[in-house]
Amino acid sequence: MTGGDGTDVGSQPGRVEVSERIRGELRLPGDKSIAHRALLFDALGEGEANVRIPSPGGDVRSTAGVLAALGAVLEESRGTDGLMHYRVRGGGTANAACLPGVGGELLDHGNAGTSMRLSMGALAGRVATARQTGDASLSGRPMERVAMPLRAMGATVSTVDGHAPVTIRGARPLIAIHHDLPVASAQVLGAVSLAALAADGRTTIATPGPTRDHTERLLSWLGAPIRRDGCTTTVEGPVGFRARDIDVPGDISSAAFWLAAAALHPDAELRIRAVGLNPSRTAIIDVLREMGADITISESDPTGPEPVGDLVVRGGATIRGIRIDGARVADLIDELPLLAIVMAAADGPSEVRDATELRHKESDRIALVVAGLRAIGVDADELPDGWVVRPRAHRGGRPVAAPIVTHGDHRIAMAFAIAAVTGVADGVTIDDPACAEVSYPTFWTDLAQLTNAGTVPAGAFR
Ligand code: S3P
Repeated sequence: MTGGDGTDVGSQPGRVEVSERIRGELRLPGDKSIAHRALLFDALGEGEANVRIPSPGGDVRSTAGVLAALGAVLEESRGTDGLMHYRVRGGGTANAACLPGVGGELLDHGNAGTSMRLSMGALAGRVATARQTGDASLSGRPMERVAMPLRAMGATVSTVDGHAPVTIRGARPLIAIHHDLPVASAQVLGAVSLAALAADGRTTIATPGPTRDHTERLLSWLGAPIRRDGCTTTVEGPVGFRARDIDVPGDISSAAFWLAAAALHPDAELRIRAVGLNPSRTAIIDVLREMGADITISESDPTGPEPVGDLVVRGGATIRGIRIDGARVADLIDELPLLAIVMAAADGPSEVRDATELRHKESDRIALVVAGLRAIGVDADELPDGWVVRPRAHRGGRPVAAPIVTHGDHRIAMAFAIAAVTGVADGVTIDDPACAEVSYPTFWTDLAQLTNAGTVPAGAFR
């Protein structure tokens, strides 16, 4: 694992054992997708606002750090409510959304792809130069998919062979465009939408399939003229809006680990409080239910642009195999590594197809999922765009204990920890458990509390 400057920050393996039961109640870190946007959009708005985020992980703190480097995050404090409060003041005016700052900054996005890509869109409309960097994993991820439409809009963007570091010199006004996204990516859609706030006229962005809609929800709640019709997003620019206080709900992609854990375990009951229930993110609940999981949802009255509610999940169900492909993949993109563990416990084979994007996440998640499944004794095949899992239970085999290679990828580490606590593996040793911190800094303490493991594994924190 490397830090933002490329130096090795060290890692220590951690052992996770099978748990006899999984029980309790928990609150999760703030939804990462919403938290990045809340900070960034308030920084683009006029005036000051307070963004409240439960237990922000390293990725969200990278966005706050970038905005502080640009002069937009004024203050960070822990509130009496236990949440992190970010006092944000941006550079926007009544008729133009804009980031403040003097130019020339080196902005470090750490491990966070959403942070870098959305910020590129925001920086495209600011008449100054910024340089954006990230850790070794982020520097291996494709950035031309964002750079290309921003160039068409009039920004000057350079990448190194398509990767970070990125240098971006914005312009104002930008040119309104129609852009057809080659992949269904909410990050790229969000980046072009933010640039469109500074463009003269109507920008339309079409995606080949549905993506999460946090950009549209939050920006229109702030008063910006943005709308989604089917797979097309339209923004009328140039436009300004006022910053507004935002409460970020719990992260459903973090809840997913516990929904799967409790669903797989014969002796389990968990209550998860105040989770974001945006319909473009709840496919994980639908799929787990389709596979047999017992999950109850109670939605609360919304106080902001995102629906919120509590989830209860009970164990002991028989889990069925499933095929996931087509438009459904984008709705489940962050949960697919975890679903591979659920697939490994099903009563029949499962398959994931059309998910080549998984090779461009924090790691090549197709390769690491299949390697990890094989290590714990599950029969799995790697496909160019997914995997096939033939569960051991189906073949009468026994769980195996194994070391798990994560390449510093948080979701791989947490997915295989769930394989261990549920007995899908006979315990695992995660090479770098501390990598979970970027999205779920309290994962290992939650695991110690909800399972009878009792202790936090060695190497859980740096
Ligand atoms: C995100 C979108 C997804 C997801 C990422 C967060 C977002 O990526 O994998 O963790 O907040 O927009 P893409 O939709 O770009 O594939």
